[in-house]
Amino acid sequence: MKKLKIADGIYMLTMNVEDILFEGIWEIANGVTLNSYIVQGEKTAIIDGVIGWDGIPETLYKNLEEIGVEPGSIDYLIVNHMEPDHSGWISNFRKIKDDFTIICTDRAAKLVTSFYGEDKVRIVKEGDILDLGKGRVLSFHPVPNVHWPDTMYTYERSTKTLFSCDMFGAFGKMGEHCFDDELTPEEVEFFEDEGIRYYSNVMATFTPSLRKAIEKAKMFEINIIAPGHGPVYRKKPQKIMDDYSRFSLYADGAGKDEVTILWGSMYGMTAKAVDFAEVILKRKGIKYNKLEMPLESDSEMVATVFKSAGIIIAAPTYEYELFPPVAAALNELGRKRIAGKAAFRFGSYGWSGGAEKEMKEIIERNKMNWDLIESVEFEGMPREEDLVRVEAGILALIEKMRGKVVEG
Ligand code: FEO
Repeated sequence: MKKLKIADGIYMLTMNVEDILFEGIWEIANGVTLNSYIVQGEKTAIIDGVIGWDGIPETLYKNLEEIGVEPGSIDYLIVNHMEPDHSGWISNFRKIKDDFTIICTDRAAKLVTSFYGEDKVRIVKEGDILDLGKGRVLSFHPVPNVHWPDTMYTYERSTKTLFSCDMFGAFGKMGEHCFDDELTPEEVEFFEDEGIRYYSNVMATFTPSLRKAIEKAKMFEINIIAPGHGPVYRKKPQKIMDDYSRFSLYADGAGKDEVTILWGSMYGMTAKAVDFAEVILKRKGIKYNKLEMPLESDSEMVATVFKSAGIIIAAPTYEYELFPPVAAALNELGRKRIAGKAAFRFGSYGWSGGAEKEMKEIIERNKMNWDLIESVEFEGMPREEDLVRVEAGILALIEKMRGKVVEG
């Protein structure tokens, strides 16, 4: 766990976590940080906690002591969001201190009780204030469905710091550099990619609510954005707000100028057309990513499709339906409400077709509204004339995705 001073009396405690499935689902290849913040006036508040996964609260208490905060002196636990990655330490804290107040929204209050049996809660509404003394004044601003319905921003007036919880967060472990002005160009790129992974894996379903939260953030004068995961932005907080605005467009079909090939093949026949597709994309100078299902993790699959302006779905028919690992991937993209992508499918069939019908059912059922080029299906191995049709489909896809490219 690292301890960092943000301003006089305001500290960040941050811990890298790896080898976990985030939310019990997402295999996060580059880990994640959990960030907790301390604000000290005459009274002391802690905003979110950081011991959800290591199960060792003593680590937090020891680090608090090292920045001069006796854990028993904490008066307020501010729960910006009840998901246990931020709140999982509350029950333990109760063992060392009895008289503290939890501050949260009304929707979080119910969860605080059902998750941890706590009932000493002060419910806050939009604009409510907590004066900690010595000029440190916090205000509270609900941002429902970022990412649970209970979430709120906490804003510290004197330093103009927005404690944004999941909003403006990113996956990815932090090394020595935890502030935006310290990041190397490589680290900036790393955290942008990990921001896309975080947004797409965890938050994409709630994009309309995230847009409202971006608008709400614009109402504040902000010097510092301090999220629950990832770096703190104190040099250019606008950057992460702009990034999140752009990510919200990716959820509606926009993307980077690149194609993702989401593919699977039983016996190499669809794979042969994938090889051919790569030749075409290279010839046209198009950047592309390949995701072979089921070998790719869902985290990587969702993040890569999410950020791409053009999608090639290459999958055969399997038992009268779409090749199951690709069908599962499409269903997951639908659950995440990743809509409006320009897409082209091709694939092989043997005894009968069926893949096309299921693909369209998935897209329809999930209201994905993908902009589909007419598919190409071939019996068995693709012949020369099939590849000519595949090439035409790819060229049409490239044309269609041009209108969807949004670069950061
Ligand atoms: Fe970082 Fe929704 O928890």
